[in-house]
Amino acid sequence: MADTMDNSELVSILARILYEVKENKVSVDVAFKRVCKGRCVKSLEERERLYEISRRFISDYIRIMCCSNDRRLSYRGIARLWLSGVCNNELLNELHCIYSYPKWFVDRLLELMPKPEVERLLESMNKKVLWLRVNTLKSSIEGVLRGLDNEGVECVTCKEVPYMVKVLKTRKPLRLLSVVKEFKAIPQDLSSAAVVEALKPEPGDYILDLTAAPGMKTSLIMMLTDNKAKVVACDLSLRRVLIMRNLLKKLGIDLSRVNIIHTNSIMMNYRITYDKVLLDAPCSNSGAIGKDPSIKVILTEGKVQYNSTLQFKLLSKALSLANYITFSTCSILPEEGELVISRVLDRVKLVRPLNWVSNGYSIVSFNHNLMRLMPHIHESEGFFISTLQVV
Ligand SMILES: C[S@@+](CC[C@H](N)C(=O)[O-])C[C@H]1O[C@@H](n2cnc3c(N)ncnc32)[C@H](O)[C@@H]1O
Repeated sequence: MADTMDNSELVSILARILYEVKENKVSVDVAFKRVCKGRCVKSLEERERLYEISRRFISDYIRIMCCSNDRRLSYRGIARLWLSGVCNNELLNELHCIYSYPKWFVDRLLELMPKPEVERLLESMNKKVLWLRVNTLKSSIEGVLRGLDNEGVECVTCKEVPYMVKVLKTRKPLRLLSVVKEFKAIPQDLSSAAVVEALKPEPGDYILDLTAAPGMKTSLIMMLTDNKAKVVACDLSLRRVLIMRNLLKKLGIDLSRVNIIHTNSIMMNYRITYDKVLLDAPCSNSGAIGKDPSIKVILTEGKVQYNSTLQFKLLSKALSLANYITFSTCSILPEEGELVISRVLDRVKLVRPLNWVSNGYSIVSFNHNLMRLMPHIHESEGFFISTLQVV
């Protein structure tokens, strides 16, 4: 536990973090920042340790509730119960309790794959895997690997996507590494790179990124084309659009070739057609639980259905704007992948540009033409990827 902190102080911090997650529906990172605001601890090491404790606490929330008979336990009570360590596996027999996930979510996964595979998936989503993308607009792969080695970071490059680096061991958080501070490397998951690889951007392509902010994939499109594609990058959130503009500039993107638009893409009424559309749609984020365990606490079936409908509307718009579309979501559920595609299947032909990823779920007959990255197989976030050609 955090060295200089007594137990009641820790209980109070964890309770306030849980309050932020449950009541304000924010990520663990945002909750931690709001609660600590640099006041909780003195040193960077202590802060990192307290952050990891907070992550584990939020990740274990459903498991703690399984151990408690008292549904009205206060947030402090929940923190105290977790810290007491009495909630161990011997008390639990249901999968959703053991791995700490919503019951309906685990039940849905059990309809999609065998139980041992569901267990491996749930276990792997409880861990964070760190990936860096080398920004070849600012450095070479060798240069970044040398920089990481100098800072004592152990890592391996990805065989299939050579500019992606998996971090095995690091003393510092990624954001504090020199290569990251200099924008020569960017914390970005392998699955996110796979989406842009499936789009196959080429120099000269005119690409519409329908839901682009904060611009991680837009920047990869520009990197892969050596700043020679032209991108129209749209997003509904003004806050995220502003972050995107700033980020793209820092990453060395030629902003004269990226047109950033703050808009509702569903309403877009342009008559222009593009070579390619990227639709990295808003979703329940269930594939990103490893990065942010608060998703387990705030995920609901209603949220999945809401996003599924939104994805269908955005995909229908995308189909009217180009003949080649990559549609992706960071969701582990077929409602935000296979089942959205089944609604437009009569209008498209599916292509499968990546051969190193898994197929879609076999609840649809065309799953071999769909792509999924799975945390327990690819050590990445869970992502659904599809590439469609309009017929
Ligand atoms: C998964 S995020 C996109 C991440 C981005 N592609 C990247 O790699 O950095 C989904 C985005 O969709 C945006 N969004 C949601 N509804 C939208 C709409 N109707 N029109 C445009 N953007 C929308 C959200 O603001 C959010 O930024």
